[in-house]
This record gives sequence, C-alpha cells and structure tokens, in this order.
Amino acid sequence: MTVGVIGLGYVGLPLVVAFAEAGERVVAVDVDTQKVASIAAGDSYIEDVPSAQLQAVLGSIKASTRYADLAPAEAVIICVPTPLTANREPDLGALIASARALAQVLQPGQLVVLESTTYPGTTRERLVPLLEESGLRVGEQLNVAFSPERVDPGRKDFTLRNTPKVVGGMTPECAERAEAVYGRICDHIVRVSTPEAAELTKLLENIFRAVNIALVNEMAVLSDRMGINIWEVVDAAASKPYGFMRFEPGPGMGGHCLPVDPFYLTWRAREFHMSTEFIELAGKMNQQMPHYCVERIERALNDASKPVKGSRILMLGASYKGGVGDIRESPALRIIEVLAERGAAVSFHDDYVRALPSHGLESVPLESALPEADVVVLVTAHPGLDYVGIASRSALFVDLRGVTRGVDIENLVRL
Ligand SMILES: NC(=O)c1ccc[n+]([C@@H]2O[C@H](COP(=O)([O-])OP(=O)(O)OC[C@H]3O[C@@H](n4cnc5c(N)ncnc54)[C@H](O)[C@@H]3O)[C@@H](O)[C@H]2O)c1
Repeated sequence: MTVGVIGLGYVGLPLVVAFAEAGERVVAVDVDTQKVASIAAGDSYIEDVPSAQLQAVLGSIKASTRYADLAPAEAVIICVPTPLTANREPDLGALIASARALAQVLQPGQLVVLESTTYPGTTRERLVPLLEESGLRVGEQLNVAFSPERVDPGRKDFTLRNTPKVVGGMTPECAERAEAVYGRICDHIVRVSTPEAAELTKLLENIFRAVNIALVNEMAVLSDRMGINIWEVVDAAASKPYGFMRFEPGPGMGGHCLPVDPFYLTWRAREFHMSTEFIELAGKMNQQMPHYCVERIERALNDASKPVKGSRILMLGASYKGGVGDIRESPALRIIEVLAERGAAVSFHDDYVRALPSHGLESVPLESALPEADVVVLVTAHPGLDYVGIASRSALFVDLRGVTRGVDIENLVRL
C-alpha cells in the first residue's frame, strides 16, 4: 500500500514513520521546503522521532512539496494546522488550501482522512465539497473519513500503536477503509457512526483536560489565599482509588491544542444558539494563570525586599511542557513579557529551546546565570535537571510546577 500524508509536523511526521515501519510506501507532502529537505536528508525536527528512526525507513519515504506525487496513494491523510484567527475564530486556511490542492490530483478509489482537530461538521461541510470539485463523488469514487490524532508529545508509554484510534466515516464503506488503513499502525480502532462524532470526540477529550486544569488552577489560587499547600492536597486527593482524576496546577495551558481547540467548539456552538459557558470559564481561568504567576514572583521578590524593576529573573523553561521544545502558546512567553514590561531583566535557560527571537532572548548557560539571578522561576519542568539542587543554590526559587513538593528549603516559594 502507498499512504500519503499532508502536513509533516508533530502529527504528520510520526504517522509517516509509523506507516513506513509497518512496511508501507509513504508519500510525505508539506509546503515547507525546509521540512521536506530535512526529511529527505533523514534529519528529524520532531523530538518524538529520533533521526536514526527516520533514517531506518527513509527508503520507503518520498518527501515532496508536490501534491501530484500523491497520485499513487491508496489513502491520503491530512494533518495541517487548524489555528485560530486574531479574533479567536477557527482558521481553516491551511485545511482549505490543502483540500483544494488535493482535489486537483485526486484519483478514483482514493481514501482521504482528515486528522486535524476541528469543529463538528468540518469534514462534511468544508472538506467534502472541496474534494468533490475534482468531479469524484464521496461514497462512489471517493472515500472520506475523520480520525482525530491523540499524540501526546514527549510521551513514551502511549504511542500511535497502543493508543486506540477513533474513526468516523462519511459512509460505512469509508469507515471500513479507514479502519483497514489505520489497522496497519494501530492495535485498536474505535469506530463511531459519523465524522461529526469523531470530530466532537477529540474536542471532548481536550476540553475535559482544559476544564479540569482550570479547576485545579482555581483551587491553587484559593489555597494560596487560605495558606494551604495545593500540592499536598492534590497528592492526597489522588489517593482516592475511584471517582477522582489527578490534574496538576501550573502556569497555564500551552501548545497547539488545549488553548486553541475549545474555541473551535465555542464558535460552532453559537450557530446552534448555545453558549458553552464551562469552556469559556475554563479558558478565562487558564489565561489568567500567567498573570497570577507574575504576582507570585512579585510577592516573593517583595518578601526579599526587592522590586521587580531592575531584578534579574532567570526563567527555567520556555516551552509549554516538559520534554518538548514547542513554544506555541507557552505561558512562559506571557510571564516573560509581563515581567519585562515591569522593568525586570529577564533571561531564560531551556535545553530544548535555543532562542526566543520574538522576545530577543537566547537560552543562557545555567551555571553562569544561576549565581547572578535575584530569582529563579521554574516554569517548565524538563526531565533531567536537579531542581532541588538548583533551588538550594538560588537566591530565591519560585516553583510553578510543584517539582520541589515535600522539600523544605529557605527561599523556596511554590505556586
Ligand atoms: N501537536 C499535537 O500534539 C497535536 C495533537 C493532536 C492533534 N493535533 C492537531 O493536528 C493538526 C496538526 O498539528 P501539528 O501540531 O502537527 O501542526 P504543525 O504545525 O507541527 O504541522 C503542520 C504542518 O502542515 C504544513 N502545512 C500547512 N499548510 C499546508 C498545506 N496547505 N499543504 C501541505 N502542508 C501544509 C506546515 O508546513 C506544517 O509542517 C492540528 O489540527 C492540531 O490541532 C496536534
């Protein structure tokens, strides 16, 4: 079988490698010439795909910027970005551009699957009409399905292979074909009746996380006022063997998914005369967290008789989560901006993020920056650093991730 993958980012590249490892030929298409050149050179830019793993299957992969190369593919999987516009509305620009380009080269008998996260109705109302401009009809000469991606960057225990894959087809035959294709790389397929059900499944999963993170963040702010240690409370609550699921407080949500996806549903819900208040409220709480963290940093400095203005603040971590270098929507960026606006001299150290060009900052070496900092703020807990050791060598250490929970050192402040 030949499988085509459009959009070679965090979702697309692992799929390309998985199909190649399963013994299939893969045509990998992206508009980004650099990404295509990197793949052709066996040079991976995604942390979860080591270059050696890519190189091992390079013989089965054709990386290209040309949609025409997708012609021999039995199945084409679309993994392009679905961000928000400046007004926080769905931006389907990449999806529409990709569907139009694909329609030009579609072949009778092909299966097209959309994996990009989006609102219910996108596959049927936006993707299918564009694909049908090819003259091919869905259910006749063309099959179309939606199957959400569940990749959790940096995660090792759940992979594409052992994470169940949800599939919803436009027709039963569409679903069957999609199931057969994904069956090559996933052990367990969960079939739902429509693309809409599959689209909403993904949003429910992400919104579930966003709402629960917001809840525990609100608890953290309240616990601070009450003088209660939130980390102790979360650990204790998590000892309940049923009916409770652990979520950690933190500086706010980041990445491509959680800060973005809920707004796809909120937007769509308006068409159905419904306002999704849970989702809005969760978004509001999570968006406030970076500002609350700045207040905690200010308070910690104040207790040390230091103003923010002129203080040297070293941020540990800039990416949105530990173990990855993705800075999209990272709360660290907002914290840096607000502190800099208030006159702090902010620097950062992150082994996964070399520079923040939009902030004019480059990652500084930890050992030389540590003794000079008035306060060290742990924003992202990357693996492999001795945080308790770093905290004990810092003039002041603010832990926004709870990595020092249970540790009692002078000059240590926790969220
Ligand atoms: N990153 C995640 O952890 C994750 C998890 C689940 C779902 N998703 C969803 O998957 C989708 C892709 O996310 P991602 O993180 O892989 O994005 P990404 O930005 O890492 O990759 C998307 C790729 O698509 C390419 N692209 C853009 N327009 C194109 C076009 N017209 N034709 C061909 N290629 C094009 C870009 O150049 C880029 O390489 C999004 O809808 C996202 O919400 C992401």
